[in-house]
Amino acid sequence: MTDESASEQDPGAPMRDDEFFALREGEVAAALPAQFDASLYFIGRIRTPWQSREQCPKNPRESDAVCTVELDPRWAPGLEGLETVTHVVLLYWMNRTRRDLVRQWPRHYGERRGTFALRSPARPNPIAISVARLVRIEGSTLLVTGVDCLDNTPLLDIKPYFASTDSVPEAVVGWHARRGR
Ligand SMILES: C[S@@+](CC[C@H](N)C(=O)[O-])C[C@H]1O[C@@H](n2cnc3c(N)ncnc32)[C@H](O)[C@@H]1O
Repeated sequence: MTDESASEQDPGAPMRDDEFFALREGEVAAALPAQFDASLYFIGRIRTPWQSREQCPKNPRESDAVCTVELDPRWAPGLEGLETVTHVVLLYWMNRTRRDLVRQWPRHYGERRGTFALRSPARPNPIAISVARLVRIEGSTLLVTGVDCLDNTPLLDIKPYFASTDSVPEAVVGWHARRGR
């Protein structure tokens, strides 16, 4: 069975390939629990120009490419009112990653860190977040800038971004801030 056909049968199953699954030196994997605690629905797909990790931005501010969020039309009534919003929080499922890493060595940082100190896609629940600018809505499709995922990444949720409560300008990630010194 190919990796593609495995993920078609179970849309939550990761697509396994060497690029995403190889352990780097010093990385540590945990034994995964025997069963899941919850199920979720993919409510759409994010279409982007990026097919590989090398092409993909590392964070949402690295590219201003206009990408499309294709919401399953069954959920379209849920967009009512969103047209008044300038920025949305997008939650998406990093389907091409391993879920057992507890210590990681991201290539671009060159230092090992715990999974929960990183924004790496490899985590027990590979949920990613971006604050994206909403360009416009066309039916059940959102045009946005500010995402950092591969083409066809499954969408989990859309929420309005509230600068008044979501923004914490004084927040610091110490290990990251020290790197620039
Ligand atoms: C560092 S993560 C940050 C994700 C998100 N903005 C966050 O903070 O939760 C972004 C990287 O994840 C990888 N990636 C993108 N889409 C992915 C997918 N569908 N499955 C696995 N990895 C993906 C790419 O290498 C991309 O540069």
